Amino acid sequence: MGVVPHKNVFQLHCCGNMKKVVPASRTLGVKHANRDLVPIAEQVEVSGKKVLYLNIGDPIVFDFRAPESIWQSIEQHRRECEGYTNAIGSNAARQAIADYAKRGGINGVTKDDVISFVGGNEAIILSMQALLNPGENVLLPGPGYPVYTGEMSFLECPLNVYQLDEENDWQLDVDSIRKNVNKKTKAIVIINPNNPTGSVLSRKNLSELVNVAGEFDLPILADETYDQILYDGTEFVPLASVSKDVPVLSLGSISKTHLVPGFRAGWIYRKDPKGALDDYFEAMHRLCRLRLSNAGIGQVAIEAALNGEQNHVKEMVAKLKKRRDLTFKRLNEIRGLSCVKPKGAFYAFPRINLPIKSDKEFVIDLLKETGVLVVHGEGSGQKEGTHHFRIVFLPPEETLSEAFDRIEGYIKKKFK
Ligand SMILES: Cc1ncc(COP(=O)(O)O)c(C=O)c1O
Repeated sequence: MGVVPHKNVFQLHCCGNMKKVVPASRTLGVKHANRDLVPIAEQVEVSGKKVLYLNIGDPIVFDFRAPESIWQSIEQHRRECEGYTNAIGSNAARQAIADYAKRGGINGVTKDDVISFVGGNEAIILSMQALLNPGENVLLPGPGYPVYTGEMSFLECPLNVYQLDEENDWQLDVDSIRKNVNKKTKAIVIINPNNPTGSVLSRKNLSELVNVAGEFDLPILADETYDQILYDGTEFVPLASVSKDVPVLSLGSISKTHLVPGFRAGWIYRKDPKGALDDYFEAMHRLCRLRLSNAGIGQVAIEAALNGEQNHVKEMVAKLKKRRDLTFKRLNEIRGLSCVKPKGAFYAFPRINLPIKSDKEFVIDLLKETGVLVVHGEGSGQKEGTHHFRIVFLPPEETLSEAFDRIEGYIKKKFK
């Protein structure tokens, strides 16, 4: 038996006689609602309509730029950016994250309590992979961020969603958490400030959560990606500063707060005074080593971002506040929509109080008729029987006004 010559391989492909390759069945349920409708938007664009993309939380698409100091640091560390880096993150980046935790009022976090990832999304994916066997679950907030649900589906884990209370500024419904804990629950996830609602959890609400977690002996993973994007003087309370004994993992990223989503730089630090998370952390280390290296640019950027000047935050938040105000006002003026005021992040999650069957259908029809692309609430774990969509208020006021005019016109025409 000789080696098959190239020519024959080519012929095989060309003949179209090969069996279709079947992907793993566990990939079939993996979805990211925020990007699901982009192919339809592209068709709408081909038909000549200008699409307003209000579906993706990427500040760089709009009038935001990374602080110059981060770029300067990358220039100075060109060699480090080119090579492989430590799989769990460079010492310098992890030290910068530990110092950041300390400035947030959390004592006892050292660089050994930090793992850096290729973006916050990788932190979500690997932390779920390291924790969950098929059939097990973590409690997820509804509404919440679809990467968690997508990963749960991949891991063959059933969704277990607790509710945020729309009537109460989207705070955690602690009873819903208590009710949902079962024998297979391994952790509780919170997203604070929240994507998609823009809510920020109060200190009281966080204390109640810590008590419930303590009752059931469960660790909490707090996704604090938007920790610096806050309006109206709202206080952000890092969960690890509230918990004494309950183990906390805090997930962060410089994508949004430092305007570098393309650098792929995120982390998890733990506050774990009794070492309950030791084995779990080691499991995450193993998964990090499996993918060999971190992203060099991201590592340099983390240190520069967290230790550098922070003037951009004030500017960014001031700009976003105007856009938040406009969004909140216009959404509540449109008949059939109502919206809780976002206190953080850059998303609003209006409720659709109109006779519709599904918010996905609503959003697709809105897109086809008006070219405005928003994300359906379905699939984010929203309360049954309610309909919502998520809108990103990163764009300048002119673009937002244009989008609200189109949404208002659409609703007037369709729902007389
Ligand atoms: C709630 C939440 N967590 C984590 C992330 C991850 O961001 P990145 O992977 O860019 O760090 C995002 C991004 O949109 C997010 O909204």
